Amino acid sequence: MARRTRLYEGKAKILYEGPEPGTLIQYFKDDATAFNAEKKAELKGKGVLNNRISEHVFTALEGIGIPTHFIRSLNMREQLVRAVEIIPIEVVVRNVAAGSMCKRLGLEEGTPLPRSIVEYYYKSDELGDPMVTEEHITAFGWAYLDEMDEIVASSLRINDFLLGLFAGVGIKLVDFKLEFGRFYVDDDMRIILADEISPDNCRLWDIKTGEKLDKDRFRRDLGGEIEAYQEVARRLGVLPSAD
Ligand code: C5P
Repeated sequence: MARRTRLYEGKAKILYEGPEPGTLIQYFKDDATAFNAEKKAELKGKGVLNNRISEHVFTALEGIGIPTHFIRSLNMREQLVRAVEIIPIEVVVRNVAAGSMCKRLGLEEGTPLPRSIVEYYYKSDELGDPMVTEEHITAFGWAYLDEMDEIVASSLRINDFLLGLFAGVGIKLVDFKLEFGRFYVDDDMRIILADEISPDNCRLWDIKTGEKLDKDRFRRDLGGEIEAYQEVARRLGVLPSAD
């Protein structure tokens, strides 16, 4: 394969220049990190599983009219995506109390929330992704108010749809993180969903047993990470055949 220009390397993915202007290649690594990269490991096969799971979820979201950066899968670890100007905000949607919300508010993990809650975090490794409000986001010019309205509406729609998609395969969608970007076509700008949706950035619990099928297995040293990710892929009908 021709030498490609690496544009960005993150904790779990690499972005290369795409074959046509306005496109990128998103490569899924096996690297796992937690606690702002204080904890690191290689989980063999994770990239292949996240590529498949994310492709499945993004395709389903396109099917209900949510614009995303996903164009098509290229191979076991790579997707062709639209190049976007990333909005430096992580949008977290929660249905059940878990993770940082439990710590912050003293809630017991697993407490159902009265309604779905949307939170924002400013993407900054140096600052450890601090939680921010819409006031910070608009005051500092990270996004405009009308963009935030669109992002919240889209995030809640995605949540409604994914709650059903995962419930259909016996999985409770506890919470997840989304990233959005600006996509320019001529003079037109659209907000589209970017990044990935996989067990790396969702909390997914087996509905019957409560077993964790996501990155908390790694964060909390529970083991069985790959088996859990494989189980999610298997239930969604996208488990790759053994090499
Ligand atoms: O840690 P916290 O409880 O705030 O995480 C909420 C959700 O957002 C979890 O599903 C987690 O996997 C995801 N997340 C993420 N990337 C981050 C922070 C959180 O994918 N930097």
